[in-house]
Amino acid sequence: MKSVVCTKLGNPELLEIKDMDKPEVSNNQVLIKVDAAGVNYPDALLVQGKYQVVIEPPFIPGNEVCGYIEEVGKDVNLEIGTKVIGLPEMGGFSEYVSVNKSLVIPISEKVTSFAGASLPINYGTTYYALKRRAQASRGESLLILGGSGGIGTAAIQLGHIMGLKTIAAVGSDEKEDYVKELKVDSIIRYDKENLKEKAKELTDGKGVDIVIDPVGGDVSEQALRATAWNGRLLVIGFAQGEIPKIPLNITLVKGVSIVGVWWGRWTQTSPQETAEDFSELVGFIESGELNITPKNIYAVEEVPEALNNFLTRKNIGKTIIKF
Ligand SMILES: NC(=O)c1ccc[n+]([C@@H]2O[C@H](COP(=O)([O-])OP(=O)(O)OC[C@H]3O[C@@H](n4cnc5c(N)ncnc54)[C@H](OP(=O)(O)O)[C@@H]3O)[C@@H](O)[C@H]2O)c1
Repeated sequence: MKSVVCTKLGNPELLEIKDMDKPEVSNNQVLIKVDAAGVNYPDALLVQGKYQVVIEPPFIPGNEVCGYIEEVGKDVNLEIGTKVIGLPEMGGFSEYVSVNKSLVIPISEKVTSFAGASLPINYGTTYYALKRRAQASRGESLLILGGSGGIGTAAIQLGHIMGLKTIAAVGSDEKEDYVKELKVDSIIRYDKENLKEKAKELTDGKGVDIVIDPVGGDVSEQALRATAWNGRLLVIGFAQGEIPKIPLNITLVKGVSIVGVWWGRWTQTSPQETAEDFSELVGFIESGELNITPKNIYAVEEVPEALNNFLTRKNIGKTIIKF
């Protein structure tokens, strides 16, 4: 089987395409023939040894796939041929991957393989952040930093479904054009407009109720200063590379909460709630409320380019590898 293998930590160009043996399937696992695998920012960090968890090579990256069950372990009650989303601990950038049965979600043909492979990390994280961490209520305003990115796209779409007033902050004409295609209510060009002033203007001087922050750096504090009384700033990631240091007096005078969001950890500690959220997210797709169309579809050989897009601020929307 064709796989993308990290044999040495470093730039994505060091990744190798190798012909590997199909993985073994233990009693509790299924073997998935992969149609599509999701590519994410953390993959780009992982292959460089710069992620919060460092894995020694050789390894096959990739933590979200969609495809069909080809083999089942003896303790697995799933049918061969079932279409599934899988969350492998590693190994998703490959034609076949074995996944623990608790991390396999059966889906219908209404969910395309591209949508299925796009769903877990970006939509799972964003839904967990809005629903469980911010406890968002219909009618609240939502400022989305990095609005055109993978997390940003999910936040615009899910914010709309959850009845929030979405405001996407983006940093270029191309990114602005992209978010206009989504159902976003307002756009802030934070490369040339004052984020705080514009966010206040768009909320009649009140400030925003919730901020989704996958960017970090200096925009986090600007966004925090743009929040309303009882606001929530959801800390998702630091794509800008710098971890912000925030003056805590802002939280006091605004009654604002800074809320950490680590979806991967939560899926391990709360499998029942994770399954509930997946069921709701798949339901949004099946009912036609959520249309996930990945913007970038790459062949296996193009994985280094896909990963470099994240590192050079070029990624827009969801990125997928097609097998
Ligand atoms: N906490 C969790 O559980 C969790 C789950 C998934 C992802 N994450 C994290 O969320 C972050 C974003 O992931 P993503 O998939 O949305 O990535 P992405 O598609 O690359 O989006 C990141 C956005 O950040 C903005 N940005 C500002 N400065 C940047 C820089 N120097 N380099 C790159 N981007 C920059 C970009 O928008 P502008 O150019 O418009 O500013 C870009 O659209 C990552 O740090 C990832 O590790 C966390």
